[in-house]
Amino acid sequence: VSASAAEDLSLTAAQFASFRALIKEVTGINLGEGKGLMVERRLASRVRALALPGFAAYLEYLKAGHADEVEQFVNAVTTNLTSFFRENHHFDYLAQLLAQRQSAGPAASRRLRIWSAGCSTGEEPYSIAITLCEALDNLDGWDARILATDLDSSVLARAQTAEYTIGHLDRLPRADLRGWFQRGTGANAHKVRVKREAQALITFRQLNLLESWPMSGPFDAIFCRNVMIYFDKETQRRLVDRFAGMLVPGGHLFIGHSESLFNVSDRFRLLGRTIYQKAG
Ligand SMILES: C[S@@+](CC[C@H](N)C(=O)[O-])C[C@H]1O[C@@H](n2cnc3c(N)ncnc32)[C@H](O)[C@@H]1O
Repeated sequence: VSASAAEDLSLTAAQFASFRALIKEVTGINLGEGKGLMVERRLASRVRALALPGFAAYLEYLKAGHADEVEQFVNAVTTNLTSFFRENHHFDYLAQLLAQRQSAGPAASRRLRIWSAGCSTGEEPYSIAITLCEALDNLDGWDARILATDLDSSVLARAQTAEYTIGHLDRLPRADLRGWFQRGTGANAHKVRVKREAQALITFRQLNLLESWPMSGPFDAIFCRNVMIYFDKETQRRLVDRFAGMLVPGGHLFIGHSESLFNVSDRFRLLGRTIYQKAG
């Protein structure tokens, strides 16, 4: 990169403000004031990929309505950090709920719907699927489905492969959970793939949580973890209200470790450690 090109690729405060406004409009994500350098770094690769002279030209390009690039823009600015069995107490709790339903006998419903909203690269929905496979004695006797959605098309594409590098398994909470992953051979020896039985429970779909939702539900549980943290309070309120409308009475909402429904919704009661139950 020549000196003048590098100069062009520094983001001015006014450009940052424009990108922030656009990100908020498209995704609901409320980027902090201090995220200028992050935005500069992540968008510089888009500017280069399009061979544009700088961020001003990139803004114009986005505003001219290049839908493909808006998608790339969103993919570049979203934060997709996740891991298998992250906040494992949620999965322990889910396993207990399933065991209760199972032991309630044939009178209890065998229909089970769970939504992973903001599923990123798939570790969350696969952790849910493995929990189901382990907790239910006979999956064939259940009508169980997991819907996994994200706005970011690139993470969804990765999720759908069900393939991960072996290092992803380092932080599994129990060694025996490795049994749910198949090791690659030959050139793929550093890779693992989630076993088919768990994969088969999940449907992946692209969905912007701020837009309309095509599914009718209702869901028994919704996982929306480490997503709302990026939204402002008003966006959180609207979203959580819509989640309540999508849950069965007594359905559960699992949120991220640094999130809370305090001042966001009174339609849920807190059961403990970021696990909520729809009231009524
Ligand atoms: C930090 S990841 C959380 C992944 C996972 N739920 C977890 O807790 O490990 C946040 C995800 O939310 C997604 N996201 C952000 N805004 C969204 C929106 N408006 N609609 C749908 N997904 C969104 C991002 O693309 C990203 O994959």
